[in-house]
Amino acid sequence: MAKINSLQEVLVEELRDIYDAEKRLTKAIPKLIKASTSDDLKEGLENHLTETEEQVSRLESAFEQLGETPRAKTCAGMKGLIEEGDEHSGEDYGDDSLRDAVIIGAAQRVEHYEMAAYGTAIAHAKLLGLDEVVTLLEETLQEEKAADEKLTEVAEGIVNPQALTGEEESEEAEGNSEMASAGSGSGSRSRMSASGGSSSRSGSSSRSGSGSRSRSKK
Ligand SMILES: [Fe+2]
Repeated sequence: MAKINSLQEVLVEELRDIYDAEKRLTKAIPKLIKASTSDDLKEGLENHLTETEEQVSRLESAFEQLGETPRAKTCAGMKGLIEEGDEHSGEDYGDDSLRDAVIIGAAQRVEHYEMAAYGTAIAHAKLLGLDEVVTLLEETLQEEKAADEKLTEVAEGIVNPQALTGEEESEEAEGNSEMASAGSGSGSRSRMSASGGSSSRSGSSSRSGSGSRSRSKK
């Protein structure tokens, strides 16, 4: 491998890495969309897939600004994150909303990794006075941040209350009869805390709660 002698060369290497990461994501996100159940999650991922395709083009413009031919260099970090996401979303789950929660986790790890990579590249482009490159990368960074926030929002409404505890033989289910009747109200706002405690016996597979909620959001 050739010796790297300047910050501009460092930046080009960084962009090659990010270029590879984004291109991998254009192939990985459709798999996550397919594996997810929530309408909100699917929609969020579809929007981000479109953005990711634009981000690839934006990087090509940045290479052009630097007088370089766009070239990808394997991003081992993103490769690993994608492999992990595939592995975890492919597990067997007792409720689809649990897989959705795992997919959100995988997608947020990706977003944070990208935010770190773009943050560094922007800092280096600024040091080099490459204003056009900074503008291009900033635009993408803002999209990554917004995608991460959207995922947090989706996560807060996603888990089916009945799936929070999962098993019928939970400790609270024994000897605490008030818990069993408390289930009805919990659908209004399900948080992902594991403490839910509402007996899974109280509801007979009612998924309608989470479905209607996801449709009411825009
Ligand atoms: Fe991206």
